[in-house]
Amino acid sequence: MAQPFCSPAMIATSLLLAAILAVVSANPLGRRAMAIHEKRNAVPAGFVQSGSVPASKEITLRIALTNTDIAGLEKTVYEISDPANTLYGQHLTPEQVAEFVKPTAEGLAAVTEWLSENDISPKSVSNAGDLLQITIPASKADELLSTKFSTFKHVESGVESIRTLAYSVPASLKPHIQFVHPTIAFTAPLRGPPGVTAINTKRALGQKKRKDPIEERYPASCATVVTPACLQAFYGIPTAKATSSANNVLGVAGYVEQFANQADLQRFLGALRPDLVNTTFSLQTIDGGTNDQTLANSGGEAVLDIEYTVGLAGGVPVTFISVGEDNNDGVMGAIDIVTSLLGETDEVRPKVLTTSYGVNEEDITIALSRGVCQAYMQLGAVGTSVLFSSGDGGVGGSDFQQVNCTVFVPTAPSGCPFITSVGGSVGLPPQVAANFSSGGFSNYFTVPYYQANDVSAYIASIGDQYAGLYNTTGRGYPDIAAQAENVKIAWKGNFTQVEGTSAASPISASIFALVNDKLIAAGKPVLGFLNPFLYSAAGRAAFTDVTYGTNPGCNTDGFSASTGWDPVTGLGTPNYELLLTAVGLDHHSH
Ligand SMILES: *[C@@H]1O[C@H](CO)[C@@H](O)[C@H](O)[C@H]1NC(C)=O
Ligand SMILES: *[C@@H]1O[C@H](CO)[C@@H](O)[C@H](O)[C@H]1NC(C)=O
Ligand SMILES: *[C@@H]1O[C@H](CO)[C@@H](O)[C@H](O)[C@H]1NC(C)=O
Ligand SMILES: *[C@@H]1O[C@H](CO)[C@@H](O)[C@H](O)[C@H]1NC(C)=O
Ligand SMILES: *[C@@H]1O[C@H](CO)[C@@H](O)[C@H](O)[C@H]1NC(C)=O
Repeated sequence: MAQPFCSPAMIATSLLLAAILAVVSANPLGRRAMAIHEKRNAVPAGFVQSGSVPASKEITLRIALTNTDIAGLEKTVYEISDPANTLYGQHLTPEQVAEFVKPTAEGLAAVTEWLSENDISPKSVSNAGDLLQITIPASKADELLSTKFSTFKHVESGVESIRTLAYSVPASLKPHIQFVHPTIAFTAPLRGPPGVTAINTKRALGQKKRKDPIEERYPASCATVVTPACLQAFYGIPTAKATSSANNVLGVAGYVEQFANQADLQRFLGALRPDLVNTTFSLQTIDGGTNDQTLANSGGEAVLDIEYTVGLAGGVPVTFISVGEDNNDGVMGAIDIVTSLLGETDEVRPKVLTTSYGVNEEDITIALSRGVCQAYMQLGAVGTSVLFSSGDGGVGGSDFQQVNCTVFVPTAPSGCPFITSVGGSVGLPPQVAANFSSGGFSNYFTVPYYQANDVSAYIASIGDQYAGLYNTTGRGYPDIAAQAENVKIAWKGNFTQVEGTSAASPISASIFALVNDKLIAAGKPVLGFLNPFLYSAAGRAAFTDVTYGTNPGCNTDGFSASTGWDPVTGLGTPNYELLLTAVGLDHHSH
């Protein structure tokens, strides 16, 4: 991580020193021996320390306790998600998940006792009881964790948060505590609306460079303006509505006050899916989320996501899940959303969840990233397919505005092996890679078994190109790709076109929701955690390999799309009809 900012690093050093001194001094007679639990060496890029925290300011912290048997849950999730396994499709109930995730009795007792010694009574804020929440004055938090909380500002947005650079817990409790948060995770506000483009003819012209002939069965207009009809043609998506609406909710996550506007949706359907006019979506709110219907506050990201779910997965019930700012999970509510969904009945809980927000992996600590990933693994266990857009900065991170990088910047949560990461493609089929499609290899998560051969084959194919710029042992992403440019949306009363992997995730999610509809109709379990299926021989046969294009960044051309899996477009773009075949359904009989 190369940071050009000198002053934050200096603040970092002095803060760290303060924290270390605190460990030594704040240990009066009878106090427990403290040990540093997590630390970071510097204030992350894009943030500056902006002030102190008043001693009486109440802050809310969460203590993630060590789970009883997370390895057992992981093993089970892989078993029930692998089509070759006899347990395939036997999703767990939230209660069964909680048995794996609950804290050990010993750990819970020890941590509760420590808090009690400090006159703090925690409340449990997760289904399994593994997350304890406390609200205490800053001065008390400083004392409890032998640290000094300060205010930090995200420079670009001006958003302030209370964080520290290191904290301690009693040495004897280290094995029982995964992490305390929010403490040393500095999450930039999630990226806002996707890029709005004029009709993009440049990219269409780029197609001429390709050798493969462009098939003629697609309307020429789809090369420059992409509508639901184009996507139906590109990916074999049915025009007929889904029929088994029970237990088949498609969830769309909304963050950062991105509001999904009903009037924009109706305008979109009226023009592009007249058969679906008046179809609407349900609203669920978490952490004080809302869905303001003022047209001027219609969110570009939110309408894109809702228009390409309601408008593509016709007949599938869609729920917009608006996550507000009252979250204490250190990741903008990304863990809270899971806690909330795990608490729902099977009928209400989404079977597919799409999220078009993300950050750079390095912004979140390893411990917290594991916490987020374990949360999404729990959703997979109960049968929810979790899709995230891979990011829009090529090998240079999550944002179109790439950071100044000397090594490639992996994005989050794409590095989590339990989510399906969706990159971007463009053009008439056979599609090429969108040049901003984030892709690469995680520094936090090792390569999972289901893609190990693909990742090693790709790395072998590029030899020592980019050696040292990416992690050869990391989980590779994205897993798949879909349309990410020239996507027509209705927004604030007008039609416009947007680009970003933000489009690719809801488009893919709609396809999987439609496959689930057919599975339910056939009396079969829904897809659940997708990746072991996607990478299986049957699964990958349902994807059209994308073999042209690169994802430049960090002053390089980036990785190249190639035959087979690649860290630009994954396995390629989905085909609905081939997916039906892959899951053992003969689509002609439906
Ligand atoms: C949609 O709803 C409006 C208002 O209720 C109604 O006037 C219109 O006929 C409906 N259109 C369709 C196609 O159902
Ligand atoms: C990136 O580096 C260049 C050259 O060193 C510099 O001019 C530019 O301001 C940097 N950009 C950011 C966002 O730091
Ligand atoms: C991606 O392609 C567009 C259009 O061809 C171009 O303007 C842009 O600079 C490219 N981005 C990168 C990172 O090369
Ligand atoms: C590379 O990834 C592994 C996990 O797969 C991790 O242990 C290691 O620290 C990473 N290397 C860097 C430089 O981040
Ligand atoms: C957008 O729509 C509003 C009303 O719906 C209209 O007044 C405005 O001119 C439109 N803007 C553009 C750029 O077309």
